[in-house]
Amino acid sequence: SIERTLSIIKPDATKRNLTGKINAKFEDAGLRIVAQKRILLTVAQAGEFYAVHKERPFFGELTEFMASGPVVVQVLEGEGAIAKNREVMGATNPADAKEGTIRAEFAESVGENSVHGSDAPDTAKEEIAYFFSGLELVG
Ligand code: CMP
Repeated sequence: SIERTLSIIKPDATKRNLTGKINAKFEDAGLRIVAQKRILLTVAQAGEFYAVHKERPFFGELTEFMASGPVVVQVLEGEGAIAKNREVMGATNPADAKEGTIRAEFAESVGENSVHGSDAPDTAKEEIAYFFSGLELVG
């Protein structure tokens, strides 16, 4: 079915001017960017977004990193978009990511791993609503 998923191009990637190269990988895979904006998160906003990871030892590092520079938040749409986006991103740890994936090509470490993508339909819905209003989604 046609799905939408929330994607974030993280500060390590925006700093290295990789937004276009990453977007080309999404579009080449048949994903359509139906909403997109470049924003600067506060540590508190990053913490709210990643609230499920609050108890993890890397939470402080994660939220400070996500607030360390611009991020591009976007909504990707397409057939099976949630799984397809995860395929294009590759494994969370770039050391485990398959050749040709975004993380294999661009990620610097498990923390500075260039992109985030929603992991399931319910989280996709929540994560999209965190950043976008319905009016901003143009399919
Ligand atoms: P993401 O898909 O954005 O979801 C949570 C993030 O936490 C994950 O990608 C990683 O970037 C980050 N993360 C996971 N494990 C670690 C770790 N051991 N150290 C730092 N960051 C991590």
